[in-house]
Amino acid sequence: MAEPVRAAITGMGSAVPETILTNADFEKTLDTSDEWIIKRTGIRERRVVGEGETTATLATEAARRAIADAGMTVDQVELIICATVTPEMLFPATACFVQNALGAKDIPSFDLSAACSGFIYALSAGEQFIRTGAYRNVLVIGADCLSRFADYKDRSSCILFGDAAGAVVLQPTAELDKGIQHTVLHSDGSKWDLLHVPAGGVRHPATHQTVDDGMHYVHMKGREVFRFAVEKMQWLMGDCMTKCGLRAEDVDLIVPHQVNIRIIQAAVEKFGFPMEKIAVNIDKYGNTSAASIPLAMEEAFHAGRIGPGSTIVLVAFGAGLSWAGAVIRL
Ligand code: ACO
Repeated sequence: MAEPVRAAITGMGSAVPETILTNADFEKTLDTSDEWIIKRTGIRERRVVGEGETTATLATEAARRAIADAGMTVDQVELIICATVTPEMLFPATACFVQNALGAKDIPSFDLSAACSGFIYALSAGEQFIRTGAYRNVLVIGADCLSRFADYKDRSSCILFGDAAGAVVLQPTAELDKGIQHTVLHSDGSKWDLLHVPAGGVRHPATHQTVDDGMHYVHMKGREVFRFAVEKMQWLMGDCMTKCGLRAEDVDLIVPHQVNIRIIQAAVEKFGFPMEKIAVNIDKYGNTSAASIPLAMEEAFHAGRIGPGSTIVLVAFGAGLSWAGAVIRL
């Protein structure tokens, strides 16, 4: 039998579009204010794709950076998993566009749909391939461009979204106290209608009528999602810490899905974590869905807030509804 291994993160990268959309920009077209948006969400600005930028171009850029960060070359990558709910096209998979753009020939590449929980789902999927010994160099990407599905007439949702991509390289390590120590994944499909894009799939193929009715946009019941998010993020933190025998002082950084500063604060206060132990960049990027966690994690790593030996806890929730957590020792 093969020796047990853990899947370690050996490279990180991210990419955001050039264009910045500020709260002041929304004030010009919507009945909203910079003050309301900051107070209710913590968001000051977000990045949105422009000409020539897409989910695949951002994902490819993030992937290139993660591969370089790992000290690897593209030809060493053996598998690409891309978590996204805003794919390049309905098919083929965005991961295949990334594979082609990277020049990574013939390797398996697939997408995974778990909305804002997508990166942790993809991390967990990648981990399985490493632990079984199937692959040794796995690229895991979270990439989304929700600005392409936002209804810019709906002030309660469009102000939340930004576009980005984040990527990591997973490789095996025989040091069992390193790498991914725990993952937990859940979903509740009975609550699908709290957060969804109704049209463009088989249930409602795109027609003039679906477009006229705005069914190609994100539909969200914000208050219900808010309550769900706080409850699940708290539960996830409890699960991650209990399963790994961690006390608050053992955790170097919590990296929560960046959705709303009030959700993050409400979720972490139960455990008595000071805000210095929480990765927050929602003010600059808004909710970037599957990219949110790898983007915040990479920013914290390259800012020196975490480094080799750090213990981090990732927690996310999203459409599905889905929720997921992970404990990683870097
Ligand atoms: N500017 C000014 N007023 C606003 C705005 C705005 N941008 N948006 C809503 N309001 C108004 C509402 O119309 C409402 O007015 P009313 O009292 O006259 O009816 C009032 O503000 C309060 O509305 P609430 O919905 O109760 O506001 P809340 O404090 O809950 O904030 C928000 C709304 C930001 C959407 C919050 O509920 C939230 O963050 N929910 C979670 C959203 C989320 O997690 N989405 C994930 C989507 S991404 C994905 O998974 C793919």
